[in-house]
Amino acid sequence: MPEDKVIIFDTTLRDGEQAAGAAMTQEEKLEIAKQLERMGVDVIEAGFAASSPGDFQAVQTIARQVRKPIIASLARAHPNDVDQAWEAIKEAEHPRIHVFLSSSDIHIMHQLRKNREEVMDMATSMVARAKGYCQDVEFSPMDATRSEPEYLYMLLQSVIDAGATTVNIPDTVGYAAPEEFTRLLKGIQENVPNIRKAVMSVHCHNDLGLAVANSLAAVRVGARQVEGCINGLGERAGNASLEEIIMGLETRKDFYGVNTNIDTTQIYRTSRLVSDITGFPVQPNKSIVGVNAFRHASGIHQDGIIKERTTFEIMDARSVGWPSNALVLGKLSGRAGLKARLEEIGYYLSPEELNQAFVAFKQLADKKREVSNRDLEALMEDQRRTSSETIVYKLEHVQVSCGDHEIPTATVSLKGPDGSVATDAATGTGPVDAIYKAINRIVQVPNVLSEFTIKSITEGIDAIGEVSIRVQKDGKTYVGRGSSTDIIVASAKAYMNALNRLLAMGEAKKSSGT
Ligand code: KIV
Ligand code: ZN
Repeated sequence: MPEDKVIIFDTTLRDGEQAAGAAMTQEEKLEIAKQLERMGVDVIEAGFAASSPGDFQAVQTIARQVRKPIIASLARAHPNDVDQAWEAIKEAEHPRIHVFLSSSDIHIMHQLRKNREEVMDMATSMVARAKGYCQDVEFSPMDATRSEPEYLYMLLQSVIDAGATTVNIPDTVGYAAPEEFTRLLKGIQENVPNIRKAVMSVHCHNDLGLAVANSLAAVRVGARQVEGCINGLGERAGNASLEEIIMGLETRKDFYGVNTNIDTTQIYRTSRLVSDITGFPVQPNKSIVGVNAFRHASGIHQDGIIKERTTFEIMDARSVGWPSNALVLGKLSGRAGLKARLEEIGYYLSPEELNQAFVAFKQLADKKREVSNRDLEALMEDQRRTSSETIVYKLEHVQVSCGDHEIPTATVSLKGPDGSVATDAATGTGPVDAIYKAINRIVQVPNVLSEFTIKSITEGIDAIGEVSIRVQKDGKTYVGRGSSTDIIVASAKAYMNALNRLLAMGEAKKSSGT
């Protein structure tokens, strides 16, 4: 009997990026796409090519460099969008064009200002246009769950006749309840005569907290593609959290009876990467990837776990790639030991990257007696931020003087785009304010700091501190992160990270979204 597979479609780089303040650079998107490939996702929606030159380039770069999964670009039902989508993905090993158009009367009347017949024609002709370019075409009737079912059936029949190989049913505004959603899907199976020529997919938003429940319920009634985002990122309350769906299917195979191509041990690493790049922290009690997901605080639970893990654990933390927090390395550890340990926790470095990591590791090990896996993760995230191709200004040196009878004063040196080093100093209300003002005197990009948080990565007085900030410029938000055993240095690094991202993304602003 053939295996019953559910296709995992990741839209972190498209719908996920639509979350307010989650904009990513092209390099960051490529890095996430490579990690998604490692994790084994079947389809990566790399972006919305026609929405901006930056998005086009990101989709094209991913299509050229990420060869295993299907690479999809979203397209409105407009000729130019479909053409741009194809231009961006045509070099992919497995390209897909994803055309969408609203099907609910509320959208047709108020947003599109058209009628149902016009929408039917646009959708059908644009799917046919996409099919002229590409065998693999997906169609999404936006706001499907608030659409009149009879109209939806006709629309789906028509786009499948025009060549759609996947029809995706979005719960765009997160309105559906599971019973209602599965009723709609069954209605589609019973009333769309050619439905078996296409894969039925679902795409659920989380406005009422039901996105994962709706997606899993859909699998029970025959959906064989599920769309979602890592960490449940996405518009408003987000999309269905992909890691929860995957682990739901995996852990309850007895109930769902399906498989996926996912290497679940890459889940944790993927979650960390997305969180680090977008600056959206993962809540501690988040299923699967939250820091408390596998922690047992109650004595009774701990007692049970010690006797037999399965008493209170339905999943093994290792199955999703959670690193143990064993103290693994120290000052005397060598390059080979570092490489092996990094690979164990999901970092595969080139010789040059390993050299850089080793230098940073030695500096850290000099300050901390023992370096844990969590420390290594923080170190690698910091390395990624400071070795990214989008670095415009590099922090060379930071020094502050402060105290209860001192005026906080900071001196910073930055290496600029032309390679020259500039040094300046400023006073402020506190050490961080003084640093940020000194940096501003050199970089000269006015912005507003809207968020500043600091947390300790591990326990203990020598713990690494991680600073996460958001700055705003021209109505856009840019995230910055930095870590160090010195929180003042971490603060400076976070600001440089935000400024560099601001400068890199300023070139590739989004002009529209869905
Ligand atoms: O939520 C939605 O309807 C979408 C479509 C573009 C698939 O994101
Ligand atoms: Zn969506």
